[in-house]
Amino acid sequence: MADSKKNVLVIGGGAVGAIAALNLEVGGLATVSVVLRSNFKPVNESGYSIESCDHGILKNWKPSHVLPQVPDITNQSLPPYDYIVLVTKNCPDVPPSISSLVGPALPATNTHTTLVLIQNGLNIEKPFIESHPHTTVLSGVSLIGSAETAPGVIVQDDRDRLLVGAFRNPNIDVALEQNKAKEFVQLYGKGGKTDCVYSETVLHDRWRKLVYNACLNPICAITGLDTGRIRLADGGIEGLVRPAMQEIVQAAKAKGVELAENVVDFMIEVDPLDIYLSPSMLADVRKGNYIEFENLLGEPLREGKAAGVPMPTLEVLYQLAKAIQWRTKEAQGLVQIPPKRNAVA
Ligand SMILES: *[C@@H]1O[C@H](CO)[C@@H](O)[C@H](O)[C@H]1NC(C)=O
Ligand SMILES: *[C@@H]1O[C@H](CO)[C@@H](O)[C@H](O)[C@H]1NC(C)=O
Repeated sequence: MADSKKNVLVIGGGAVGAIAALNLEVGGLATVSVVLRSNFKPVNESGYSIESCDHGILKNWKPSHVLPQVPDITNQSLPPYDYIVLVTKNCPDVPPSISSLVGPALPATNTHTTLVLIQNGLNIEKPFIESHPHTTVLSGVSLIGSAETAPGVIVQDDRDRLLVGAFRNPNIDVALEQNKAKEFVQLYGKGGKTDCVYSETVLHDRWRKLVYNACLNPICAITGLDTGRIRLADGGIEGLVRPAMQEIVQAAKAKGVELAENVVDFMIEVDPLDIYLSPSMLADVRKGNYIEFENLLGEPLREGKAAGVPMPTLEVLYQLAKAIQWRTKEAQGLVQIPPKRNAVA
């Protein structure tokens, strides 16, 4: 029955992408090709080394295909993929754009392939619905705890939970989009090692995660404090985190998304204090990487303000995050500055 398997291209095989590829392969309903960048060489040579609370210990694990770049299906005469799963970071302020990255495997006129975005933040589907108007786009909200401790070495210490639903594309029939989402849930969950569920409330899922990701995440990145230390720091929670989170709750409400009463306290305490967890933006700043601040912070801020919600804390966090991003751009040579003038008497 091998030929009834779905052909899945996973773009991005880091901490989250590797576990996604693993879940899809162990279910036996999909043949997975993974596109890797920085860790291509070690993974192509000897596979992943995975230590996972869901899957146990795997040595030299390889998905069906390991690719160094997104295949050009037109010039390589490949059939279209059934699913393309994007698990890369998403920084729309840093070129190349994510839709041009996917482009070679997803022609603009595509109607066959379903795109799955396992990425954080708001409005991430919008560029695709514009560039690929007849492509079904699914939302994946991942609540996994997983890290790549060395290239190709994955340590997953918190269970994989994935909420999948369809982003609304006005050019596509709602029932068709929802059926694709349900089918993907089946492919992903079939192996029984993950908690993957279909969700009809994609926007709610995304706003809820923003209570953490638009607030605690950038605050840790800006202050250099992990989620344990920000709770211990003088004024860290009451002066920064809680006001920011309350602004997100109000913005969500103005957009018709009612979050649970206790969501702020829940998110403040979601990481046990004494694991001193570094959220993604703090980890990225420490590694000199770009941060995903536009989709996590910029979009909810713009939506909230447009709906008339005062968001003074988020505004300042956003501008600080933008300055940090500029600092990284200068370090990476993406912006040039005028040479420093000699101090002459
Ligand atoms: C990947 O590994 C295979 C077999 O180990 C090797 O033949 C191939 O050249 C490698 N691919 C690249 C692009 O390095
Ligand atoms: C196919 O397209 C890729 C980029 O999409 C390009 O790098 C490659 O050179 C092309 N190959 C041929 C044979 O045209």
